[in-house]
Amino acid sequence: MTKSTPLPEGAVLGILGGGQLGKMTAIAAAELGYRVHVFAPMGDAPACDFAHATTRADYDDHAALKSFGEAIDAVTSEFENVPCDVMDILAAHVPVSPGRPALETAQHRIAEKTLAKDIGMLTPHFAPISSAEDLIAAMADMPNGAILKTCRLGYDGKGQVRLTQSDDLTAAFNSLNSDDCILEEMINFSAEASFLVARDAQGETRSFPASINHHEDGILARSIAPADPQILSDDLLSDGQAKIATLAEKLGLVGVLAMETFITSQGLVFNEIAPRPHNSFHWTIEGTMTSQFSQLVRAVMGLPLGNTQAMGVWQMDNILGQHMAELEAALSAEGVFVHRYGKSAAKHGRKMAHLNRRLD
Ligand SMILES: Nc1ncnc2c1ncn2[C@@H]1O[C@H](COP(=O)(O)OP(=O)(O)O)[C@@H](O)[C@H]1O
Ligand SMILES: [Mg+2]
Repeated sequence: MTKSTPLPEGAVLGILGGGQLGKMTAIAAAELGYRVHVFAPMGDAPACDFAHATTRADYDDHAALKSFGEAIDAVTSEFENVPCDVMDILAAHVPVSPGRPALETAQHRIAEKTLAKDIGMLTPHFAPISSAEDLIAAMADMPNGAILKTCRLGYDGKGQVRLTQSDDLTAAFNSLNSDDCILEEMINFSAEASFLVARDAQGETRSFPASINHHEDGILARSIAPADPQILSDDLLSDGQAKIATLAEKLGLVGVLAMETFITSQGLVFNEIAPRPHNSFHWTIEGTMTSQFSQLVRAVMGLPLGNTQAMGVWQMDNILGQHMAELEAALSAEGVFVHRYGKSAAKHGRKMAHLNRRLD
């Protein structure tokens, strides 16, 4: 279901999920004159503080989903692991972002890598793994080491284990507790780059400048953007932007699509996609004319897509639960934009806030 006319001021954007991405989307929606209704299971849900209505229910509560669908004018999801059925139910009521094709693909590591290959991207050499025997056989083809990942539900480096030939492979397989895994060759990259595109209901796309990302323990620590051409050449930038636009089109996505890649001597190597705002583009809140959150709201509510030009060079630092002292210091620093998420407990590895600062 698509609407080409913009939804009027005061219309209601439904957001599935109550975390920081939902919260920052809700703030952007408010700036554009929309109201927000958050649907989130019980638990910490900072996005609810910015909503005029909330539904606290599980994603399998079909009655709650139906009432939610009747109360909103369009819906987006702040995370890609919302069950596909949820979007099918809501699609009967309102335009949805992302729809089933994008969700199904982004929810499974083999599906997303297969699509990337189909559109001509390089991917790490990979094999599906459903037993310890599969793993032992596939490891024989990975002389430079590999990463075993669950195909579903991994995030922030969770659900993955790095392996060399000499590791106890049976123990590694058992540690993930899943028979739906992927083994990927370890890529020797010079840097990691991410791309973000917005696509509207008419199929118009707008790319953002790319980000260069630094991970620690599998979790994004820092992004610097727009990517330095010494790190990501203009050719690779154009290539990545063209590829992500093709992916968004193939998936029929209305909203925003992020893509993580490795920069190698062979070119860009695809890692994964997410059909939602992405941590590596939080710098766009102050750093681009239209932030990733505003752009998502624009795409979903049928407004024209905004200008994505960067206003300077930006660094975004994630504040995890173990970095609270750094956050404290940032509050009294000059020239740092502090974004706290309003979560109740600062646990190790939990994303609590991010800091944006202009470098030039
Ligand atoms: N095949 C690979 N080769 C080298 N590094 C990898 C590979 N896969 C993942 N990594 C590293 O681990 C990080 C997290 O892996 P990713 O697949 O993006 O999982 P998540 O869904 O947790 O973000 C990546 O950003 C990268 O730094
Ligand atoms: Mg990732």
